[in-house]
Amino acid sequence: MPLLLSCHRSPAGRYMIIPIREANDEITLTIGKGGETLYVADIRLAGERELPDYLVPLDLGHFGASKRDVHFSGIKAAKAWKLISFADTPPEVPAERYRPVYHHTPPYGWMNDANGLFYKDGLYHLYYQYNPFACVWGNMHWGHSVSPDLVHWEHQPVALYRDGYGHIFSGSSVVDYDNTAGFGEGAVVSFYTSYNTEREFIQTQCLACSLDDGMTFTKYEGNPVLTPFDGIKDFRDPKVFWYGPESKWIMIVSADKEMRFYSSKDLKEWEYMSAWGEGYGVQPRQFECPDFFQLTTAEGETKWVMIVNVNPGCFFGGSATQYFVGGFDGRSFTCDSPKETVKWLDWGKDHYATVCFSNTGDRVIAVPWMSNWQYGTIVPTEYFRSANAIPRELGLFKDGGEYYVSAYPVAELSNLEKGSRTLSGIAATADKPQGIKLFDSTDGAYELDVDVNVPAAGRSGLRLTNAAGDVVDMYFDASLQRFVMDRTKSGTVDFGERSTTHGIENHDRRKTNSMNYVNDFALATWAPMSVKGIHSMKILYDLTSLEVFIDGGRAVMTNLVFPDGPYDSLEVYSDKGRFSVDKLTITALGL
Ligand code: FRU
Repeated sequence: MPLLLSCHRSPAGRYMIIPIREANDEITLTIGKGGETLYVADIRLAGERELPDYLVPLDLGHFGASKRDVHFSGIKAAKAWKLISFADTPPEVPAERYRPVYHHTPPYGWMNDANGLFYKDGLYHLYYQYNPFACVWGNMHWGHSVSPDLVHWEHQPVALYRDGYGHIFSGSSVVDYDNTAGFGEGAVVSFYTSYNTEREFIQTQCLACSLDDGMTFTKYEGNPVLTPFDGIKDFRDPKVFWYGPESKWIMIVSADKEMRFYSSKDLKEWEYMSAWGEGYGVQPRQFECPDFFQLTTAEGETKWVMIVNVNPGCFFGGSATQYFVGGFDGRSFTCDSPKETVKWLDWGKDHYATVCFSNTGDRVIAVPWMSNWQYGTIVPTEYFRSANAIPRELGLFKDGGEYYVSAYPVAELSNLEKGSRTLSGIAATADKPQGIKLFDSTDGAYELDVDVNVPAAGRSGLRLTNAAGDVVDMYFDASLQRFVMDRTKSGTVDFGERSTTHGIENHDRRKTNSMNYVNDFALATWAPMSVKGIHSMKILYDLTSLEVFIDGGRAVMTNLVFPDGPYDSLEVYSDKGRFSVDKLTITALGL
């Protein structure tokens, strides 16, 4: 049952306090001054006799506006003002049982893709697709959080507001140390897609610049800086980076089912160079959210990696992240593998729109959105929706002549450790599973580091359980050469069938997923791997998510779960042969 968020009303306060009921139709609120539209938001206002799902604030002070600058369409102003009040401070957000402990989440409202990630002077900046007016997609802003270590995040005021030109879609940031754009040395320049269905080109690339290290931004008066030359409709998510060998900036924009490369000397004038991607990998609909960087193997070989997020296209339905490895000559990308080769960055179902920080030197640090467009807007949280997965350091390795990307939690994760204990020599056989109480009491935030020895046949694995009988089954299937995570009985799983506006039915889901399948959420995901005896697993658990990194991140799987109470016990089992857990380190994590 939704609760009302509390707040202290004051008729002259700078915050408009808007009661929201998600089931209602949208009306439009506009802030305009002197003939200029400063702000547009679609809101689902709760009626007079309706219990709101929650209250959200709108900071009029940010726009230097007052009540008389606010206009409504779709409702009579007098009726709207009866429902809205004012306060000096934003309403408090109540605690809720599915709020993760150590993963980054928005303070309230809806979050999707991480955007514009950069590092400067000791702080990591994470912006994100943000709807501050509801826990479902809409009103795209860039929310903002900062962290000194990638694991302790602090919320900041919204960085980029939706404006009269449209929604602020995904993009990237660079630090312009040499003042190539003329905004100032060390200016942070962020690129985003402006999305407006009423304009000729509905998706155009725009920039905003910050002279205070990413805290506040001014949108460039010459926007848009890039429109599509062929009027293509899906043209978005600009990734900008510095290309040292030719002293130029490069922008990659996803354009339907390809990635287009542009170059610039000043970040404002962009010249088309090439397109790549047609027919590569899985692409039932458009490509989204590109990233492009170099990685080097332990043996010293350097390659370019193209990240391509696709929705739908995930092996298990909905959205997922692919990558391609190859070469780049400053103009175009050449993929080393044949078009039909598909490489996934993560084999779970809750890993999307993954992009990396800029300005991190040799480190390539990726941040996934930990959800799926199939059901992201209907997961059972109340005052916020979605979290980011733990930032992951990417690496390159070679296997059977092919290059692959590994992903492993950043070393800074150790800043969250709150004490650990290690068990060893645990062995399970078909008639003798081993039960282990992980914690007598836990808030559901911990890490398991597990060294296993897997028998050559059958299934062997770990089942996480709680007192309510919820189970997540994670096992090696030696016969099928897979690692599997089955969340069909993990807790609340019965919300997965309704499609969202973004999610489209994945035609091949049932065909490819011969494993347990109940609905879009309640299913098993698996990673093909060579199951060959000794393996290591790092398992991160945080109330509603499990991230598993096998063999140093060579196979990764991220899945959401909604148990009725944290999992506090483990069962080690095998249906054939002897499965041994040689070492199990249990580490409580917290902020
Ligand atoms: C990916 C995406 C992006 C777009 C953004 C809109 O999840 O569809 O392509 O910029 O979300 O919120």
